Amino acid sequence: MAEAVLTFRPGTLADVPGFRALGEAVVPPTYGPIDAAYAQRMLDEWWIPARFEASLAVNAHLVAECDGQVVAMAAFGRLSQSHREFPHVTGDREVMWKLYVHPDHHGRGIGSRLLAEVEAMVEGDELWLEVVEGNEPAFAFYRAKGFVEVERIGDREWPDDVWLRKSLEQKALR
Ligand SMILES: CC(C)(COP(=O)(O)OP(=O)(O)OC[C@H]1O[C@@H](n2cnc3c(N)ncnc32)[C@H](O)[C@@H]1OP(=O)(O)O)[C@@H](O)C(=O)NCCC(=O)NCCS
Repeated sequence: MAEAVLTFRPGTLADVPGFRALGEAVVPPTYGPIDAAYAQRMLDEWWIPARFEASLAVNAHLVAECDGQVVAMAAFGRLSQSHREFPHVTGDREVMWKLYVHPDHHGRGIGSRLLAEVEAMVEGDELWLEVVEGNEPAFAFYRAKGFVEVERIGDREWPDDVWLRKSLEQKALR
């Protein structure tokens, strides 16, 4: 059988059901082992149509599609445009809010490809993101891509958020 073709394109409102389905596949195995209640809260609060509609209004989205299914997505934009509150973070920054690959498609270069596209598209010379404490595969992935830990934010109720940053200054030289 011929290998299914993978395509990369911008995400739109038509992808919202696909984003939700992706979340249901990837959020429980990613965050359930860290904190099952947190994984459920993530799905209930952040992987719902209203949040994607709000995000699509202010952030850029990229989709990897295979056989008509959203198998990965990335979302990025400026902190100052976010609809979330960040009381502990000062200044503006370019943030990758989401990078998620369906578990059936991990380790095939899709996450690397989406990250490279995001890095090429951001306006500034650095990119930030948050990783949940305990998500070791994601830490390893981002460290290998040149991200470094900058600050850690916790409320003691839920796992800490760890902010990572990567300098993109080399981009201008390429
Ligand atoms: C972390 C994540 C985005 C990486 O995307 P990916 O498409 O699986 O990663 P890639 O195939 O591009 O692999 C990148 C590197 O990580 C390694 N890797 C990551 N996950 C792997 C896996 N499950 N199996 C094999 N290798 C893996 C690869 O060896 C590769 O190394 P190389 O570039 O030296 O070959 C993806 O695994 C994912 O969505 N994880 C769950 C959700 C998550 O934690 N997202 C981040 C939230 S902050």
